[in-house]
Amino acid sequence: MAGRRQKYESVASQGQCDIPRVLEPTQGFLLSLDMASAESRAPGHGPPGELATENLSSDTVEREHLEASYVGRLAERGDLRRLVTYVPNKGLPLYNWFKYKEGFSRELVFRLLDKLAIGPADAVLDPFAGCGTTLLACKEFGRNAIGLDILPVAVYVANVKLCDWPNLDILVSAVDGLLSRPRSDPTSSFPDLRIVELAFDPQTKNDILFYKEEIEKVEEPVRGFLMLGLLSILERVSRTSKDGQFLRLVERRIPPVKDALREQLMTMIVDISRRQRTLFKPRQGKAQMLLGDARNRCLPKRYEGRFAGVITSPPYLNRYDYSRTYALELCLLFVSHPDDMRRIRHSLLRSHIESREQDGRDVRLPALEEILGSLRSKNLNNDRIPIMVKGYFEDMNMVIRNLAAYLRPGGRVALVVANAQFAGEHVPTDLMLSELAAQHGFDTEEIWVTRYKGNSSQQMAVYGRRPVRESIVFWRKNA
Ligand SMILES: C[S@@+](CC[C@H](N)C(=O)[O-])C[C@H]1O[C@@H](n2cnc3c(N)ncnc32)[C@H](O)[C@@H]1O
Repeated sequence: MAGRRQKYESVASQGQCDIPRVLEPTQGFLLSLDMASAESRAPGHGPPGELATENLSSDTVEREHLEASYVGRLAERGDLRRLVTYVPNKGLPLYNWFKYKEGFSRELVFRLLDKLAIGPADAVLDPFAGCGTTLLACKEFGRNAIGLDILPVAVYVANVKLCDWPNLDILVSAVDGLLSRPRSDPTSSFPDLRIVELAFDPQTKNDILFYKEEIEKVEEPVRGFLMLGLLSILERVSRTSKDGQFLRLVERRIPPVKDALREQLMTMIVDISRRQRTLFKPRQGKAQMLLGDARNRCLPKRYEGRFAGVITSPPYLNRYDYSRTYALELCLLFVSHPDDMRRIRHSLLRSHIESREQDGRDVRLPALEEILGSLRSKNLNNDRIPIMVKGYFEDMNMVIRNLAAYLRPGGRVALVVANAQFAGEHVPTDLMLSELAAQHGFDTEEIWVTRYKGNSSQQMAVYGRRPVRESIVFWRKNA
């Protein structure tokens, strides 16, 4: 673990926070940022989204006012409903090397690059880059991009996916070498966390650690390739399944680690050979992924005012805790003690229930006051919900302020986000974030409603069927 951490190259001296870099950036990455302004495109059309607010028992004046003032900018775009999900990536070489259910699709990024009119010399920022869909698609499309994410496992995966692999023979022989090593007992162990004990049987745990130790003896970047193979099979060789907010325990036949690893690595090699012509063409974009907090001004000062566009999707306000979903992968490489896990959990944007209150981040948002006021009188199934809701908008306010600093005048944002609902209280996140964006000098050009997400069955039983919007909001920074 300590060795892994030392691999990070700190560039703290260049920015206001510590952004370690995992692996080497692709081909001496140097962004060529030109200052040509992005052109706007004709907005999409369609009837505005309907929202069932009439049955809310509490005060809804502020939210009704918001709905009324944005209604002319809402456009139904049900044609994109699949593209805002990870599903289309499942069958895509490289994009599917690590299952990241919270991701969006490569095709969506292509459409948004076009919509934002991002030119070949422009640069794109994704402050919540996850497993690197925006970056990989930009690289493929011949556009430059930088991504940030605070979850170390996401950064690791994205960086491996962004690597150039000019020599397949080296990878093939590394895979052969790894799989033919005589098995010995590992000397390391997993951190002492209950989820690890529940997830793996003792034999599987030892096999995983054996391969991890063998992979650590290999030089980068091949080490990253092999390690990603191992990370990608952890769910398959465990008794867990990634399911919404949690890791669900499941009964299944568990394949031997060696078989699952061989299959995964061979698939990855075939993928590289298949996509060599598109991904490794001479005019591909330069893309780089960094570990960093979107709430902080992480990038070096020289990047301020330089980006033409932002394509991103923040965590949704849905109680989803990435540190729990990716607990096994974190335990393999980035967590050596339960305190590490807690630190990661509390570094995430406050979209989950264990979020803590923070002083000095207050926002001016009447709809938020209204929601918090209404929640006070509700019988909530978790009394930390108001802390999370408040924290979410406070954190996103910091993020949007940073986006305003990074974008050049006229620069544009496409942000994929879903609305929420707690105890029947509707949270129009897309509109509330647009209000915050206005406070930081953005105009909301359009809001594409891509689909409606249903409320939970428990909520439905009490409050009826109340689907909420999943939207792409488009903001333009005032010139
Ligand atoms: C909806 S996912 C983005 C998925 C991405 N679009 C993709 O296709 O892989 C949101 C991401 O935000 C990250 N995140 C949470 N808090 C963050 C923070 N404070 N700064 C940067 N990233 C954060 C999560 O780790 C997660 O990867």
